[in-house]
Amino acid sequence: MKYLNDLDFKNKRVLVRTDFNVPVENGMVRDDFRIKLALPTLEYILKQSKSKIVVVSHLGRPGGKVSPEFSLKPVAQILSKLLKKEVKFIADIKSAEGDEIVRNLSDGEIALAENIRFHPEEETNDEKFAIDVCHHFGVFVNDAFSASHRAHATIAQIPRFKPSCAGFLMQKEVEELSKALKPPKRPSMAVIGGAKIETKLPVIENLAKVYDVILLGGKISVEAKEKNMKFSQNVVLPEDFSEGNFDIGPKTIEKYVTAISAASFIVWNGPMGKFEEEAYRKGTDAVFEAIVSSDAWKIAGGGESVEYINSKDGAEKFDFISSGGGAMLEFLSGKRLPGIEALENSI
Ligand code: 3PG
Repeated sequence: MKYLNDLDFKNKRVLVRTDFNVPVENGMVRDDFRIKLALPTLEYILKQSKSKIVVVSHLGRPGGKVSPEFSLKPVAQILSKLLKKEVKFIADIKSAEGDEIVRNLSDGEIALAENIRFHPEEETNDEKFAIDVCHHFGVFVNDAFSASHRAHATIAQIPRFKPSCAGFLMQKEVEELSKALKPPKRPSMAVIGGAKIETKLPVIENLAKVYDVILLGGKISVEAKEKNMKFSQNVVLPEDFSEGNFDIGPKTIEKYVTAISAASFIVWNGPMGKFEEEAYRKGTDAVFEAIVSSDAWKIAGGGESVEYINSKDGAEKFDFISSGGGAMLEFLSGKRLPGIEALENSI
């Protein structure tokens, strides 16, 4: 896979795929975390002499139709503020007007194209659509790790037609999560919680092959016990739960906190209970405190865990926080992500 240093951006129109799938409420961006993560790549490219950028992203799941509530316009405003420069907005990258904006971008200019999922061909991974979207560009950069588990046109097709590389965020994600796949320090521990057992099982099974201990919590652990699921010996299920099974219980909390303090490498994905309600936050609070106060290398990820960590202003206390939800889980389950595969096989 090529990285930013491997390609020449001078005097080029550069197409950058980001994941600006951010929460928007009443036309306002509620959390700019993912926009900030794209800045190093965009700033690096803009510094190259006479380069110009068009950014494409999706937001939500508009189902291949134009839907104003999924517009990226509010994101363009935030991006402009963060970059401290004008960000042009392309209402439709496949229209004659879109074409004109792309062709007339001046050196050092940047534009953001409207939600690429307004076109059904994005999600059907349409080859011709991908060619149309990228035909004015000299190079392509994928900095959307968190969307790279999707075999979609601007993720999986474009690298077949343009010299392509990973952006800084993608590079960092692949480096750090590759460490998490083969923990360089022992004892290694994965703490897996959350609700969607079908997405977590492949991760538990894959990590159990290489990790010393896997602690399970959250709804998945309730379900695993109810269904009497069998795991390998290093997978630990809770001994007790809170009333209603909405959190791990006091005995489990004590046991998990002691185990965490002995680990040297920790990956955390998924809360231990229904943390949105204070009554069921004790397990997640205890696990979080134990992880951040340990000297272990700490990696966390997953939508809910990141939301929880941010609510505690805890991001700085981790060595790495993945921007990926589904993408992180698929990576950790050992699957090859279509976006990464496409970069590896790019022309
Ligand atoms: C995410 O938020 O995990 C990514 O942007 C992917 O979104 P999707 O699940 O709608 O494909």
